[in-house]
Amino acid sequence: MSTTTSTLTSDFAKHVAKGLLTPLAHLSSQYIYDDQGSKLFQQIMGLESYYLTECEFEILQASAGMLRKKFSDNGQKYFELIELGAGDGYKTKLLLKDFTENSTDFNYRPVDISDDILEELESDLTKQFPNLEVESLHASYMEALDSFQATPDIRRVILFLGSNIGNFSFDAANEFVGKIADRMHTGDYFVLGIDLRKNPRTILAAYDDDLGVTAKFNLNLLTRINRELGGNFDLNAWAFYPLYNAETGEVRSYLYPKTDQHVSIPQLGVERTFVVGEVIHTEVSRKYSKKELGILGKTHGLERVDMLLDRRGYFADVIYQKK
Ligand code: AVI
Repeated sequence: MSTTTSTLTSDFAKHVAKGLLTPLAHLSSQYIYDDQGSKLFQQIMGLESYYLTECEFEILQASAGMLRKKFSDNGQKYFELIELGAGDGYKTKLLLKDFTENSTDFNYRPVDISDDILEELESDLTKQFPNLEVESLHASYMEALDSFQATPDIRRVILFLGSNIGNFSFDAANEFVGKIADRMHTGDYFVLGIDLRKNPRTILAAYDDDLGVTAKFNLNLLTRINRELGGNFDLNAWAFYPLYNAETGEVRSYLYPKTDQHVSIPQLGVERTFVVGEVIHTEVSRKYSKKELGILGKTHGLERVDMLLDRRGYFADVIYQKK
């Protein structure tokens, strides 16, 4: 295993060294998404129990025309459609299809941290929508937000779909919405796709599939540590445990050792024994109430002008507008 110096000083390496040595070990879910992790997430989105994707698809399919009229002031206004965490654009293509078929004057700026995914998306869009103006940005959400050239005369419509905001704690989500609101001008829109609180068993089942895809997705963190940082995790000795707390609205995901495990990452100076009963916390997937979603916008001067729900009322796409 050869590991370069730059790999060992990367954000991932620093995060792992710190996260594994704190008493309550923690690895952030943002590092699950290398190419393999992104593929596993695509598999999750196709699982029957993972209702989120299907619900948002249903909402966007039913509302594409209404959204087009809203964003363009009934065809009168040019707008920039910016998508944070665009992924494979599966759901957004519903909007792009409606907008392009109705000669809407807009451009599309997908932002993602995975270069591969963006390349695939761009080539896909060129084939499907040859006349669509696409300008992708390979960056983290924060970098992308900071690179926005905010001009008051061009309307911005910022999409953050798929309940991605659920992967932040409430405080971090609030701060994030604040940063977005700071970069918006009067009349700009922010569309937030978010999973709602509901029957706790329905929620838990979405993160505890029988096929073990979600387990593999979380275990990909350990695979990456072994491959990229020279770690010695025995992947067969670790298992996955999700838990939903209906009081806080948080699904919390963990990896736990089935027997005592000594973990060593020599280049990072990490040596730690995890005894049975200890866990590594890997992900938060927070669910929101409708009331919390109103408050989230109001705090930052964003008015909730619409809230679109699927027919089961599981998921919401909230339309905020800067006043
Ligand atoms: C990307 N994110 C919104 C997913 C979620 O639902 O929290 C990631 C995921 N984790 C397990 N299953 C899906």
